Amino acid sequence: MADNSIVFDFNRSITRRGTGSRKWDDIGSVFGSQEVLPLWIADMDFAVPPAVADKVTERARHPIYAYNAREDNLNQAVVEWVKRRHSWDIEQDWIIQAPGVVPAIILSILALSQPGDGIIIQPPVYPPFFASIRDNNRVIVENPLITRNGHYEIDFADLEEKLANKNNKLLLICNPHNPVGRVWRRDELAKVHELCQKYEVDVLSDEIHSDLVYSGRKHTVFASLGTPVCKQSVTFMAASKTFNIAGLNTSYIIVPCKRRRGLIDAEVNRLHLRRNNLFGVLATSAAYQAGEEWLDALLVYLEKNADVLVEFIETKLPEVKVVKPEGTFLAWLDFRNFFKESSALEKFLVEEAKVGLNPGKSFGSQGEGFARLNFATQQSVLLEALARIEKAIKKSRQR
Ligand SMILES: Cc1ncc(COP(=O)(O)O)c(C=O)c1O
Repeated sequence: MADNSIVFDFNRSITRRGTGSRKWDDIGSVFGSQEVLPLWIADMDFAVPPAVADKVTERARHPIYAYNAREDNLNQAVVEWVKRRHSWDIEQDWIIQAPGVVPAIILSILALSQPGDGIIIQPPVYPPFFASIRDNNRVIVENPLITRNGHYEIDFADLEEKLANKNNKLLLICNPHNPVGRVWRRDELAKVHELCQKYEVDVLSDEIHSDLVYSGRKHTVFASLGTPVCKQSVTFMAASKTFNIAGLNTSYIIVPCKRRRGLIDAEVNRLHLRRNNLFGVLATSAAYQAGEEWLDALLVYLEKNADVLVEFIETKLPEVKVVKPEGTFLAWLDFRNFFKESSALEKFLVEEAKVGLNPGKSFGSQGEGFARLNFATQQSVLLEALARIEKAIKKSRQR
């Protein structure tokens, strides 16, 4: 992969305060302090690819933002993108456009399960997975990941037990996994696939982070397993994380099975969600058609940040445990050598270190004593945050 990071200059600092940024402008309400350096919610402090900015600004110059026509250009761009980046052959008809990935997951839960059904998740995991199940009157069934020296793996024995229970109708996986940064290997996913076929459980695969995978790893689309595709799977993707356009609320669902697609489509109609965001559709197509060079450069920059972070922690904060993520721009920090109790850790990070990270326990009880750090920022900002944590830890050691 060529190092294009200088051309795109990810080191350029862009002030986000005052732009209505959830990450920067909501720190007062989220952390109770205006002083924290925010490295929490999963968006990036980088400018979008020039082709995306050009497309959106060009359209914005036209003064009417009324109902937009259906953009089949997006579906074509998606077909080409998943083929090129993920070696997956899909048909345009399999794609259902949706507002965000979380709403898309909820639509699929509503379509493919009934109130009271169990839905299996693999915590620690992205917090809205819990809410999407609970708030829609389904039952959360946990198949917690197991860890060996900080490296997370699927507990297959426990998974099989949960899949064998007839009340459990769906498995919701995070591929790659937020927050632990695993890019599930093909053999791991093949095992999940085999078990789900055996027990006839459908799989909802959240692949929003699929483009953000580091050297030596390859994303495997869960649905690409099986012949010719896994009909029991629903895949969620978006350009939102990859190209930093989450504010444009655009995602898509890929459903190879006609029957399941019909059920999800009926939910989309029932909730009148056929319309999509004018700018989101344009930005997604532009990103997929002309953003690849930018993405390759971004991945080089992000992986360097991951290396810098891990090296800093290993050399200067050895009591904090971290494993370099295989994908995503999120690092899962284990502070349990200092704090067994999450509220003490949260207080320490905000009040002493003055950094805004995501509290580990929001990812499930398995996250007690952990925090998630978003390293998709300028390296200088990352180093500043790490220095703040180091200083606060040193100070607390002296007490
Ligand atoms: C695994 C995962 N799914 C979904 C989302 C959010 O998707 P959306 O904003 O499109 O609802 C995120 C954002 O952090 C995420 O990490």
